[in-house]
Amino acid sequence: MLKKLLLLKDQVEIDLNSANTINEVNEKKALYLGKKSPLQEIMATMKDLSIEERKEVGKAANEFRSFVEEKVQKRLNEINELQIQKKLESQAIDVTLPGRKFRTGSLHPLTKLTREIEDIFIGMGYTVEEGPEIEKDLYNFEMLNLPKGHPAREMQDSFYIDNNNLLRTHTSPVQVRTLLKRKGEPVKIICPGKVYRRDNDDATHSHQFMQIEGLVVDKNITMADLKGTLSLLCQKMFGEETNIRFRPSFFPFTEPSVEVDVSCFKCGSKGCSLCKGSGWIEVLGAGMVHPNVLRMAGYDPKVYQGFAFGLGIERFSMLMNSIDDIRHFYTNDPRFLRQF
Ligand code: PHE
Repeated sequence: MLKKLLLLKDQVEIDLNSANTINEVNEKKALYLGKKSPLQEIMATMKDLSIEERKEVGKAANEFRSFVEEKVQKRLNEINELQIQKKLESQAIDVTLPGRKFRTGSLHPLTKLTREIEDIFIGMGYTVEEGPEIEKDLYNFEMLNLPKGHPAREMQDSFYIDNNNLLRTHTSPVQVRTLLKRKGEPVKIICPGKVYRRDNDDATHSHQFMQIEGLVVDKNITMADLKGTLSLLCQKMFGEETNIRFRPSFFPFTEPSVEVDVSCFKCGSKGCSLCKGSGWIEVLGAGMVHPNVLRMAGYDPKVYQGFAFGLGIERFSMLMNSIDDIRHFYTNDPRFLRQF
């Protein structure tokens, strides 16, 4: 009988190790300690034994019971441990997976180019001025030598707010504002900003676009200064090899007035589709400040001269980056914006 219990001990361990759930372990426990277990059978025979034998068998039976209980508890702990392990594995975060990308914004291409051009002029001792987008007719036209009823006003069809105020059609009114502010002192400024014209929007026109105005007023300023300045700007923008040329033009606020062309950077002036076979591309308007403009702003044109220029930022960017439609700048398609 005692031998039987000893042999069972080995079986207990094997059985419990093959139990994988709490239920299975409890079933095995019942098998060895329950009512129909060999242990109970042995206990049932006790009454027929001598006192000596009873002591011995009783001791062995108790030992067997605590052995089974200990093994049961051990297996339960193991199963518990395994379940925790499994749960952790199923909930694990794979730190080696690539993360989700957050796209960061960036400056608008027109802002970038504006800052680039500002840097070039700041490097030449210019300061940056600003003016309002809702402008007086007085500054936008009259004090730029464009009195009411002047036919040249039609060059810039306008958005009027009332008889005396409009959305500025160019950045030139900042010339007037600055001259009035400096009260006869020399001036060397650029002014970037938005301007508005009653144009129908298409690939090359927009009712709102951006300009940079330049104005230098001092003693002994000549057209050579204007050419040197614009030459440097165009070389920085379109490449070191770039030449510029002046063609006669008309602006009421400059005399003489010029259109400025750059040598074609695409074909090296040989003639291509970009320069329409001419070797030159028109990029901006400029001229020597008209004596009337100086006079109206309180400067004596016999003492002071100056030059002024105005360039379209969109136009520059379109040329530099081969952009075929001005509307790309305003629709904010990330596929376009990401290229800058
Ligand atoms: N204001 C002119 C325009 O918008 C450009 C210009 C500025 C021309 C300064 C000459 C001098 O067309």
